Amino acid sequence: MVKVDDPEGTIILDELVVAESAQRRGIAKLLISCIYSIIPAIKQIALYVRPTNMQAQAAYLAYGFAPRKIENATCSKNWCYFVYDSDSEHLLQDAAQGIAVRE
Ligand SMILES: CC(C)(COP(=O)(O)OP(=O)(O)OC[C@H]1O[C@@H](n2cnc3c(N)ncnc32)[C@H](O)[C@@H]1OP(=O)(O)O)[C@@H](O)C(=O)NCCC(=O)NCCS
Repeated sequence: MVKVDDPEGTIILDELVVAESAQRRGIAKLLISCIYSIIPAIKQIALYVRPTNMQAQAAYLAYGFAPRKIENATCSKNWCYFVYDSDSEHLLQDAAQGIAVRE
């Protein structure tokens, strides 16, 4: 699930799950990349992940996400905040090449 949120140009990614039998085949990377086919101008993708979820954190780091400090004080302290910055990273945009959305 994705939702558009503040700051402007930020997509919040939530509830990403790939069936266990289909993991490590690049499906999550492809799914996240699709965001760039739909909204090429997005500035960043942000998400929250549990500190204990090393599997997901490994995947996000591999895509180019980086851990950031949580600035919204109402958010639970028990989450890690990861951001993919479109200006400094390119792996997901590259993976989106060739994924076409009809006009
Ligand atoms: C996190 C998740 C969505 C990743 O999906 P996926 O389709 O398997 O991910 P990808 O195939 O795109 O993985 C890309 C890279 O991430 C890293 N990675 C993914 N799973 C990993 C694991 N279990 N251990 C170490 N690295 C891992 C690897 O670098 C991998 O590249 P490689 O396979 O070439 O080594 C999937 O593991 C999942 O559904 N987990 C359970 C639900 C969950 O935790 N969701 C996230 C909530 S925030």
